[in-house]
Amino acid sequence: MVKKGRVFSGARPTGRQHLGNYFGAISNYVALQEEYDCVYCIVDLHALTTLESTRDLRKNTLEMAWDWLAAGIDPVKSIVFVQSMVRQITELHTILSMVTPLGKLTDLPTFKEKVRENPHNINYGLVGYPVLMSADIVLYKSNFVPVGIDQSPHIEFARETVRSFNFRYNTNALIEPQAKFTSFPKIMGIDGVNKMSKSLNNDIEIAATPEETTKLVMQMVTDPQRQRRSDPGNPDVCNVFSLHKIFTSPEQVASINSECRRAGIGCVDCKKMLAANMNDYFTPLRARRMEFQKDPDVTWDMLRDGAKRASVIAETTMVEVRKAIDLP
Ligand code: TRP
Repeated sequence: MVKKGRVFSGARPTGRQHLGNYFGAISNYVALQEEYDCVYCIVDLHALTTLESTRDLRKNTLEMAWDWLAAGIDPVKSIVFVQSMVRQITELHTILSMVTPLGKLTDLPTFKEKVRENPHNINYGLVGYPVLMSADIVLYKSNFVPVGIDQSPHIEFARETVRSFNFRYNTNALIEPQAKFTSFPKIMGIDGVNKMSKSLNNDIEIAATPEETTKLVMQMVTDPQRQRRSDPGNPDVCNVFSLHKIFTSPEQVASINSECRRAGIGCVDCKKMLAANMNDYFTPLRARRMEFQKDPDVTWDMLRDGAKRASVIAETTMVEVRKAIDLP
C-alpha cells in the first residue's frame, strides 16, 4: 500500500506508561502505522534538559519501549529507536539554533512553564528544547506530527524554523511539518481533578498487575456530592464513570449510569467492575510485555536496528543541509 506520508513522534523516556500516555498517544501511534510511514523516537536527549541524574535513564527508556512494543507499535512496520543513537541529531540541532531568534524561544508558554517548575535549573538546553524538537522532526523528513494540543506552539515553531532555514540558505532541503492533533479526551488521575501524570503520582500504569490496578481504582475520587451509599450519584461529574466509557460495554455503561443516579449501585461495586474491565482490557498487552521483559538485549538490539534505519534518512537530510550551507 502506498503510504500517505511520514509521521514522526517523540516522547521523553518516562518509564512505565500510564493510561493517559496510552490513550493520549500510544494507541494513536499504533493506529497510524497502517496508513503512514511512521518513525517513533524515545527522546533521551530531551530528557537531559530537566534531569538531575541519569541513573534511571536507561531503565526508563527500556520500560517505555516495552510498553510501546506491547501496545502494538511494530518495529518492522515502523522505525522505533532512541534519539541519542542517531548522532546527526546534534549536528542539525546546532545548525538550526543559528536561524532561531532567542526571544522566540523565551516567549514560548512551554518554556515559561518549565522555568516555573524548575527555577534552579534553567540551562541552555532547556531554552533550546524546541530547536532540538524541530531537528527531530525535520531530520527524518516528516510530514505529520501527532501531538497533544499543548505541543502546538512547538510545531508552529518547527514550521517557522524550516521556513527561516530554507529562506536563509535558498533551499528546499527541509520539509514543513503539520501537526496532527489527537482528539482523545484527556484522562484524569485517580484524584479526579488533575490530568493523569506520573509526577503528580495520580496515575495507573498500563502494565500494573491486576492487584495494583484494582487497588488504585478503589482509591479513585468519585462524585464528591455523594457522601453516603444511599445518596444518588451523578455520573456526569465522576471520573470512574468517564473511565467506564472507555473500558466497559455500552450496555453495562447504560446500566451503571441509571443505577448510580438512583443509588441502586454504590461506588465500591462500580469501581470493582471498572477494575475488572480494565484488567481484561490490558491482559493481552501485559502478556506480550512479559515476553519482551525476558531478555532486555533483544529490545536494545531492536532499538539499535531502528536507529540504523533512521540514520539512513538522517544522513540523506544532512547531506542536503551541509550542501545548502556550503559546509565542506
Ligand atoms: N516535546 C515533546 C513532549 O514533551 C517530545 C518530543 C520531542 C517530540 N521531540 C519531538 C514530539 C518530536 C513530537 C515530535 O511531549
